[in-house]
Amino acid sequence: MANNEIRFFQLNTGAQIPSLGFGTWQSSPGLVGDAVAAAIKAGYRHIDCAQNYGNEQEIGLALKKLFEEGVVKREDLWITSKLRNYDHAPEDVPEALDRTLRDLQLDYVDLYLIHWPVAAKKGSVGFQTENFVPPNIPSTWKAMEELYDSGKARAIGVSNFSSKKLADLLTVARVPPAVNQVECHPSWQQDKLRAFCKSKGVHLSGYSPLGSPGTTWIQSDVLKHPVLNMIADKLGKTPAQVALRWGLQMGHSVLPKSTNEARIKENFDILNWSIPEDLFSKFSEIQQARLLRGTFFVHETYGAYRSVEELWDGEI
Ligand code: A2P
Repeated sequence: MANNEIRFFQLNTGAQIPSLGFGTWQSSPGLVGDAVAAAIKAGYRHIDCAQNYGNEQEIGLALKKLFEEGVVKREDLWITSKLRNYDHAPEDVPEALDRTLRDLQLDYVDLYLIHWPVAAKKGSVGFQTENFVPPNIPSTWKAMEELYDSGKARAIGVSNFSSKKLADLLTVARVPPAVNQVECHPSWQQDKLRAFCKSKGVHLSGYSPLGSPGTTWIQSDVLKHPVLNMIADKLGKTPAQVALRWGLQMGHSVLPKSTNEARIKENFDILNWSIPEDLFSKFSEIQQARLLRGTFFVHETYGAYRSVEELWDGEI
């Protein structure tokens, strides 16, 4: 593999998405603003947000300050946000984006995603399984397309879609999704979905690229895997840097989250070196397991899906 910087990937809209984004899921209010400021000062130009993360207002305040101080310009940033399950009704979609834009203090987002292939009962709040219902993706997507037409969302896409759900959407979409953002790391490489996305010109973006080691309700030892540690030792890098660099060399954008300044900088330092072919091939030895199974949307008699298999259409 050439010592290619891999700073951007091209989307089907023609836009260039920065390959390394900064994740904000589970970044607590009180910490996320400083984390975003530290990330942008460290060189990140892509921030991955979502209304459901409950921290867009604080991110908006941080961005405003960075713009005012002249640290960065809006046009040099890539900002993604996501439509909540509660806002899938077509009439709620434009309002949801307006709320996000108000909170982030922006006129447009670079990318707006349907967060999950899951809708919620009208008026419901909270993450109880009984609140969730099967989605009507074609009607939500039409409303997303209108946001794209309006220019408030410069690209639109989906998140947590299986190959089948993406294929179904592609058959009805006037504006094809630009991105499918899904869990992706060396222990969940998404071979099938990756090949499908590639064949359709949909960019795959990888969340939890470090395997979300801080998430208490999942068993994550992605960064402890011997293959990652062996490669890290050989290259004089950390396992986190190796996991992220693997993602870039596989051709997907990576969205590591941190609220720690040293780790924010560490995770950014993946652009000017590469994993050589003989070591890169070792990733195929890693046993695969999905960490974020989406069980909160699944129940055998209610909820959006009857089983985890149905949610992911067998890609588990
Ligand atoms: P922290 O915020 O204290 O740095 P993911 O992006 O896969 O969801 O992982 C995020 C988790 O990984 C957070 O708990 C974060 O903790 C931790 N983390 C971020 N960067 C690193 C790193 N370079 N090495 C180890 N853990 C990291």
